[in-house]
Amino acid sequence: MEKISLIWNTWNKSIISVYAFCFLITTGCTSDKKVDSAAVHREIESREIIKITGAELLSKALETGDEIAAAAKLELGKNLKRALQEGGVQHAVSFCNMKAMPIMDSLSAKYGAKIRRVSLKPRNSKDNPGELERELLEAYEYQQQNSLPMESNVQTIDKKSFLFTKPILIDNGLCLTCHGTPENGLSMENKAFIQTKYPKDKATDYQLGDFRGIWSITLDRKKLVLDMTVQ
Ligand code: HEC
Repeated sequence: MEKISLIWNTWNKSIISVYAFCFLITTGCTSDKKVDSAAVHREIESREIIKITGAELLSKALETGDEIAAAAKLELGKNLKRALQEGGVQHAVSFCNMKAMPIMDSLSAKYGAKIRRVSLKPRNSKDNPGELERELLEAYEYQQQNSLPMESNVQTIDKKSFLFTKPILIDNGLCLTCHGTPENGLSMENKAFIQTKYPKDKATDYQLGDFRGIWSITLDRKKLVLDMTVQ
């Protein structure tokens, strides 16, 4: 199993001081003091090196991603409901048009992670998936079409980061007001209004329970490791 040594600074310092110790033992001890090898042994043993396994890190990434996705969902939902109450569907569409991205950006800054929503049928073309995101979207779509579990997932992107993904479903009748059909909630007028803001909109014709897209959250490996060690 992959082992990742933690807190590189401390670890390096440990190595350096162990070297310094050995150097003293082999060269510098010209005094009559005898080297107490048991003490050396004790000293080395007492240096704590924290190890985190790859599996522990992945499970931390999953837990953190789930927390961030839940907080982001709550924040967007709160704003959406407030905008709907204040001015109805078209006002809420204009609000999302202006504010959805800045809200995502401030959440990204707050959590120190890149937070996106991506879809195979995006409304905002900025929510088009990258290569890995597309593969995952297609995998989730397959899962859903075959009634297989739709679970959060973590992929290693590179040495520095993980990609956390979680499916977003049309899990609420409210979503259909802006993502549905004329029969289930999206009126022709509102659809036409959405078209004025998003001429390339693909995010309509959904039914309750449909797979809409994913949370795509890029997590920094170092930050996760720190979060695991700082109590
Ligand atoms: C008032 C209309 C409205 C409602 C209600 C609404 N949305 Fe949206 N949705 C939008 C708009 C507008 C955007 C584009 C936001 C932007 O420009 O970033 C959007 C974008 C999204 C995206 C990002 C991907 C994309 O297509 O750009 C997802 C995912 C999404 N909505 C899911 C949902 C879900 C799930 C619900 C129900 C809980 C919901 N929406 C309810 C208007 C709405």
